[in-house]
Amino acid sequence: MQLKGFTKRGRPLGMNDDYVVESIDWKGSDGDLAREIRVEVFVLEQGVPLSEELDETDPVAHHVLAFDAARNPCGTARLFPDASDGTMAHIGRMAVVGRARGNGCGRAIMSALMAEARQRGFLRVELSAQIHAIGFYARFGFVVVSGEYLDCDIPHRTMQASLSHGLAGSTTVEDVSVPSG
Ligand SMILES: CC(C)(COP(=O)(O)OP(=O)(O)OC[C@H]1O[C@@H](n2cnc3c(N)ncnc32)[C@H](O)[C@@H]1OP(=O)(O)O)[C@@H](O)C(=O)NCCC(=O)NCCS
Repeated sequence: MQLKGFTKRGRPLGMNDDYVVESIDWKGSDGDLAREIRVEVFVLEQGVPLSEELDETDPVAHHVLAFDAARNPCGTARLFPDASDGTMAHIGRMAVVGRARGNGCGRAIMSALMAEARQRGFLRVELSAQIHAIGFYARFGFVVVSGEYLDCDIPHRTMQASLSHGLAGSTTVEDVSVPSG
């Protein structure tokens, strides 16, 4: 399955002063760069098995790659529709290489994917946040909607953001009740 309009190679999705975020073809050379970043971050740094890191969603997801001013690839993530809820999209595999962290690369990627999801008419976005990244996602209007669970032995919580008002909200994780379990 190919998602409508999701694989236009090299289409700039967003940028800030330091990074440009482009839609990429997962099967092309830019896909190789995205895979390299995910292996570096999730497999080598976090210990996720390669067999679980690259999955069946990759060929059908919309992938982005962030480049710095020198055109070095430094981050990636993917967007895909929920399997049963047509109003909801998922963001996942959000990874910025270690050398580029803390400089706005992740923000550029999230802003681009939230804009992409909104443009495609989704009303909500869901993601599975590693516990350490909850504060990062909260900056884009995501709130915790689940208790803690393990994925690849890494603690996670599900977070959701509403796109219905056109702007990311400012709700923080402290503002919502968190179901236990
Ligand atoms: C989480 C990650 C994507 C953030 O990317 P980044 O490029 O370092 O983030 P940015 O520099 O764009 O930060 C944007 C904002 O989020 C904040 N932020 C970044 N990481 C944060 C964290 N772990 N917790 C809370 N806030 C965070 C920044 O301070 C910045 O705040 P500001 O808007 O007030 O300036 C990156 O650390 C990463 O790839 N980590 C390893 C892979 C990973 O764990 N991915 C998440 C999987 S769920």
